[in-house]
Amino acid sequence: MVQLTCNKKLLCELPAGTELQTVGAPLRFGCRQGGCGTCVVEVEEGEEHLSPPTKEEKATLKRMGAAAHCRLACQTAVKGNHSSIVGLKLKES
Ligand code: FES
Repeated sequence: MVQLTCNKKLLCELPAGTELQTVGAPLRFGCRQGGCGTCVVEVEEGEEHLSPPTKEEKATLKRMGAAAHCRLACQTAVKGNHSSIVGLKLKES
């Protein structure tokens, strides 16, 4: 299981291969297809435990002018093992 934290608080534990779009709140989603950018998150920790970004994700992040270490949650899955931690920083709504 991969521990997922949001804003430094443990949110849940996920089996490797789980797509972040299955997590739901507090993550927010729009199109769920990598095009709208609603689901952008900043990865504070454990970027190496995430699936690599697709070409479409990279294009959307570039179009948005997203900072380094940002990912689209709808296009991202966790990988790793029981000691893996992925830390996300969510923007205040
Ligand atoms: S929900 Fe639209 S890009 Fe992720």
